[in-house]
Amino acid sequence: MLVTTTDMFKKSMEEKFAIGAFNVNNMEIIQGIVDAAAESKSPVILQASSSAIKYARINYLMKMVEAAIEEHPEIPIAIHLDHGPDFETAKMCIDNGFTSVMIDGSKYDFEKNVELTKQVVEYAHSKGVVVEAELGKLAGIEDDVNVSASDAMYTDPDQAKEFVERTGCDSLAIAIGTSHGAYKFKGEAKLRFDILKEIKEKIPNTPIVLHGASTVIPKLVNMCNEYGGNIPGAKGVPDEILHEASISGVSKINVDTDLRLAMTAGIRKVFAEDPSAFDPRKYLTPARDLIKETVKHKMIDVFGSANRI
Ligand code: G3H
Ligand code: 13P
Ligand code: ZN
Repeated sequence: MLVTTTDMFKKSMEEKFAIGAFNVNNMEIIQGIVDAAAESKSPVILQASSSAIKYARINYLMKMVEAAIEEHPEIPIAIHLDHGPDFETAKMCIDNGFTSVMIDGSKYDFEKNVELTKQVVEYAHSKGVVVEAELGKLAGIEDDVNVSASDAMYTDPDQAKEFVERTGCDSLAIAIGTSHGAYKFKGEAKLRFDILKEIKEKIPNTPIVLHGASTVIPKLVNMCNEYGGNIPGAKGVPDEILHEASISGVSKINVDTDLRLAMTAGIRKVFAEDPSAFDPRKYLTPARDLIKETVKHKMIDVFGSANRI
């Protein structure tokens, strides 16, 4: 069933597990994710960035989400705007049936972030839609914004409390050391769990979101490289750290890079093994299967969201 994130986040905070939010761009990705959710009986968030919406086109996206819901009415599914850049994009998604939107004001100063977030919250809440906001800066590449690693700014717990109180946002994305993409760490992977703990103490009822949280699954990177790719030195957040986050107050964990790797690995393998292949169904079927396997693993073994519907 189509839902907002309210009830799933409430359950995640009470029972200490996280919900996976997976970025979608096309039919195969949606099917892989939703089939994994159905098989593991997990609530799930499908999310689309503004560039994904441009690519897939909003009507197609919404119709595919509707189809997924018709096929799996027992699974709570939220459709969420990822990294909404401005009020207009958030409004467009709300008006088209999204149940949740993110307004990403992290590129602005605190006051401008508060002002923009409040504007989106007011409109979204009037339509029964929930809002994720972001405070603090992730190192790495966020859509069009490139924040150099040295500018990475962890979320300040006191500011987080003030921000949530002043904006009325429903959930908060924080910066504790993750970053977007396939190159998250040069040395050892480490997150600032001390900051997470402080934030949870200050705003215990606000669901916390972790962006840039792909594992950059070594098996998938190796598969891409083995079959003609060139993705050297890729490194993400290991499963154990994500599991720790899931039981330590993180309610939503965003995953895009691992899905991209799964899709690419699946397609590359077919092409490498059979250069004569040119039927899209032949190379997209293994890619879709790998996406399903990847998502199921996260739901069952890492986030703990399986059997929580
Ligand atoms: O955090 C951003 C997501 O990975 C979406 O990326 O804007 O290329 O769709 P995208
Ligand atoms: P990854 O690049 O780690 O998959 O992060 C995705 C994300 O945060 C989407 O908003
Ligand atoms: Zn993100």
